[in-house]
Amino acid sequence: MSTYVVVGLQYGDEGKGKITDVLSAKSDYVVRFQGGDNAGHTVYVGDEKFVLHLLPSGVLQCKGKCIIANGVVVNPKAFMKEIAQIEEKGLRTDHVYISRRAHVIMPYHILLDTYREEDEDGTQIGTTKKGIGPCYEDKISRVGIRMVDLLNPEVLREKIEKNLKTKNSLFEKYFGKPTLDIDEIYNEFIEIGEKLKDRIVDTEVELNQAIKDGKNVLFEGAQALMLDIDFGTYPYVTSSSPTTGGVCTGAGVPPTSLQNLIGVAKAYTTRVGNGPFPTELHDDLGEKIRQIGHEFGATTGRPRRTGWLDLLSLKHATMINGINNLVITKLDVLSGISSLKIATKYKTEDGKIIDYFTSSTTKLYNYEPIYEELEGWDEDITKARTYDELPANAKKYIEFIESYLGINVYLVSVGPERSQNIIRKELF
Ligand code: GDP
Ligand code: IMO
Ligand code: MG
Repeated sequence: MSTYVVVGLQYGDEGKGKITDVLSAKSDYVVRFQGGDNAGHTVYVGDEKFVLHLLPSGVLQCKGKCIIANGVVVNPKAFMKEIAQIEEKGLRTDHVYISRRAHVIMPYHILLDTYREEDEDGTQIGTTKKGIGPCYEDKISRVGIRMVDLLNPEVLREKIEKNLKTKNSLFEKYFGKPTLDIDEIYNEFIEIGEKLKDRIVDTEVELNQAIKDGKNVLFEGAQALMLDIDFGTYPYVTSSSPTTGGVCTGAGVPPTSLQNLIGVAKAYTTRVGNGPFPTELHDDLGEKIRQIGHEFGATTGRPRRTGWLDLLSLKHATMINGINNLVITKLDVLSGISSLKIATKYKTEDGKIIDYFTSSTTKLYNYEPIYEELEGWDEDITKARTYDELPANAKKYIEFIESYLGINVYLVSVGPERSQNIIRKELF
């Protein structure tokens, strides 16, 4: 039994795609278990850039199967577009499958997400407008459309009809927008079902069998703990559980089957969208990190907010996920910054010093981070491939993180390219 879970520990965009790609070379299965095409996972192969949204990042070099499991919300049009893009680059996609149980993002989900974000009442979350929240709402309300429904004309028509009754009324009466036509949606999605039918399969039995047979099964998280529906900065979160726990419900595998729980964090912090961010930098240094780290959203192109590393939120994230292997990415971006700050405590609004993360999102806006300062380094570290090649201060930075969290950093990423890694321990 060899299972690997890659999850994000901050606010997303930690480099999960790059790490998944590296690990997928030796994987028999690479599985997405939550989220949808709100994700943007970047992989560089030489100078060639791939951005995966819905397809597992393993699609590039996994020799086995790539699975979009039941916990994912699937925009089938986005799926087909991504498949076409990968095929255009001469790569195979015949090994990509979608669970029959996965829910379908329908056009009304995307419109609802978009209209809500346009509502200027100050409650915008800053979503990716991909329809993620509304699709998960329908799943939980038990009115959602699943991939398997695209293969059953009667059921599909009935479900679209039922959904359009409430959605159209909302569009017309609340948002003052045009209504949607049932025939148009039905015809489009029946056609999609016909095109995708060979890829729509049951996935949980095969995955459990693969785990029993000792195959390498890699689960690729999207988003991250601070965007988790329960443990993130609610309501400024996504609508799924991007945690190691989410793997169990999102792919149908038991907790006892999960072994290598790999948490990915950047050497600093970024966030796209709204919500609190205690260690955010609003100065020239924040802008410098944005430029050097190319911190612009892979899905929406929005500039990412940047800030110092926050060990309180990382501790919260490693605890909830039970992380036993850490990955620190983008250490190279910090080269040339003379003094580096790391938040280890917060000062609350009434002057109390705390060393744990809070569940109160509103309070978090007023918490002041208390920093430890570490000396930086000037050397270019992008060519380092062994830990000993790192400057002493870069090692101190890594070891500070390890000692605060009590978890070993098994991989340090020093550049976007697939090979730019310092691997301290082989997991396979
Ligand atoms: P994901 O959503 O977690 O997969 O991360 P994204 O792909 O959205 O964002 C991470 C960005 O950082 C991408 O542009 C990667 O190519 C890039 N990246 C990943 N690791 C490193 C690294 O160690 N150094 C640098 N400079 N860039 C990296
Ligand atoms: P990856 O997998 C960073 C953010 C959005 C918004 C909030 C809710 O690339 O790390 P949603 O569209 O999910 O309803 O938006 O979550 N968000 C991400 N931020 N990386 C992501 O994915 C994200 N997916 C969603 O910006 O703040
Ligand atoms: Mg991303």
